[in-house]
Amino acid sequence: MDYYIAVDIGGTQLRAALYPEGEQKAVSQKRIPTQTKDQSPVDRLLELIKNIMPSQGKVKAIGMAAPGPINPKTGILYAAPNIPGWVNLPLAQIVQDRFKVPTLLGNDANLAAMGEWKFGAGRGYQHLLYMTVSTGIGGGVIEEGKLLLGYKGLAAEIGHITVDPNGPLCGCGQRGHLEALASGTAIARYVSEQLASGVPSSMAELPAVTARDVSLAAEQGDPLAREALARAGRYLGRAIADFLHLFNPQIVIIGGGVSRSGRYFLDPLRNSIAEYVISPEYLHGLVVTTASLGDDAGLLGALALAQTVE
Ligand code: BGC
Ligand code: NA
Repeated sequence: MDYYIAVDIGGTQLRAALYPEGEQKAVSQKRIPTQTKDQSPVDRLLELIKNIMPSQGKVKAIGMAAPGPINPKTGILYAAPNIPGWVNLPLAQIVQDRFKVPTLLGNDANLAAMGEWKFGAGRGYQHLLYMTVSTGIGGGVIEEGKLLLGYKGLAAEIGHITVDPNGPLCGCGQRGHLEALASGTAIARYVSEQLASGVPSSMAELPAVTARDVSLAAEQGDPLAREALARAGRYLGRAIADFLHLFNPQIVIIGGGVSRSGRYFLDPLRNSIAEYVISPEYLHGLVVTTASLGDDAGLLGALALAQTVE
């Protein structure tokens, strides 16, 4: 039997899955943390792929989604803001040389946008903006049924727009980017800072706060958690108003772990979009919704990329 391998490279986790040819259901899946003390992320990636290889049969191609700007033609990753040391990395080549299997690389949010457009919440739309709010913030734009790539394939890095030049440091090294103010990482950091300055909260007992803890605490009525989600939602909503002006989409799909934080996040986000658009015309007929493929969007996008190799 022939197979395809899909890999989703995140700042926090590496995931890989093995799919028989022509299928969209994995026969095996593995996930490991991206960053450990004793091994480089590249070594961990190679080991993960080695472990997902089928014991028999041929792998036709490997498709990988990675969290940074990538030239899809060359498979070079130029930067991964949330993976220290990954700069100008010929990632597709490294994997292809090691396993002697054709390997394609795409930006995680671009691939997830394609996944949502083909199989998820975006089916049937021709003008789509996808945003992922997770460790980082990424974007994918589909215009007239085509993914917007730009000159070198580096377009739609919407997490790295400057919102506050004096704001907190972003993983990329610059200050006050949307990602540094409204990603899952930023939400957790904001809560930790508030706790450290003595703001009372049910989260004070946790050893280390994650964005997921914040969502859970918000559901249970914690005022700090609700404030942290609303704050991120407002930053995102204001940025989305900017993106409406830039791209005039028909649908905005919000994915990534933080998108599952519910109304304490989504209501302020929606309200801010409405507050900052320059004409209500941008909102008429606009759908703002959450992703439907969940955590698998990146993996399915990477599979679709691999399947372009016949
Ligand atoms: C990267 C994007 C990526 C996003 C989500 C950002 O820091 O610059 O390329 O899509 O994180 O992983
Ligand atoms: Na992108």
